[in-house]
Amino acid sequence: MIRKLLKKISHPLLKFGTEKYFSKPRPFSYEGVEVLVMPGVFPPHYTFSTKILLDYISQIELKGKTVLELGCGSGIISLYTSKKEAIVTASDINESALTALKEASIKNNLVIEIINSNLFKAITNSNFDYIFINPPYYPKSPQDVKEKAWFCGEYFEYFEDLFKQLSQRKDKNVIMILSQDCNIDKIKDIAFKNHLKLEIELERTTIAEKNFIYRIITI
Ligand SMILES: C[S@@+](CC[C@H](N)C(=O)[O-])C[C@H]1O[C@@H](n2cnc3c(N)ncnc32)[C@H](O)[C@@H]1O
Repeated sequence: MIRKLLKKISHPLLKFGTEKYFSKPRPFSYEGVEVLVMPGVFPPHYTFSTKILLDYISQIELKGKTVLELGCGSGIISLYTSKKEAIVTASDINESALTALKEASIKNNLVIEIINSNLFKAITNSNFDYIFINPPYYPKSPQDVKEKAWFCGEYFEYFEDLFKQLSQRKDKNVIMILSQDCNIDKIKDIAFKNHLKLEIELERTTIAEKNFIYRIITI
């Protein structure tokens, strides 16, 4: 019952119902790192995905490793990996997210390279030690940059482009979180078409939904 209710609350359309709350910058923190989540930027407060990915990352030795957070939103993952002494690049297409992240990096005294890039288009390094992705996965055409945090396109265009580009790269560990709420079989099919496979790393059941962390490998 509670799970059903929470699941409803975490639906993107209802998330938009919380627009009033997120019309002001809202703080979010993890392990002593704090960000201000700007209006129009993916709020890590409601979904469990960002927090689960952060908990997963907390177990990895990242000192001196190169890390890309692809689609960084608030950038809490980028800042946290920088705190773990990784060499971090954060990318997104949402300019207000990137501006706020620049300020957060100064406030937290953490160094990250911040790049406005549509997927890998403006990324020059083709061999990161780690890439972390919390993707948009609802199949609907995004109407603006804000909706791109949630919607992957009616025909899963985000995943079509992502896997095509990933298949031409040489990164060592590509880690992506998905939820039972999305069409995992369809996403796996698109990966397979690009000679990639989603290997399960971790399954986490929260009160609202099941989340899965996958390692994307070449087949
Ligand atoms: C679900 S949010 C995740 C944000 C953050 N990584 C987190 O875990 O809290 C997805 C992010 O991907 C970004 N995004 C969507 N399409 C993108 C694209 N083609 N290239 C780069 N970033 C994109 C969105 O702007 C959004 O910030």
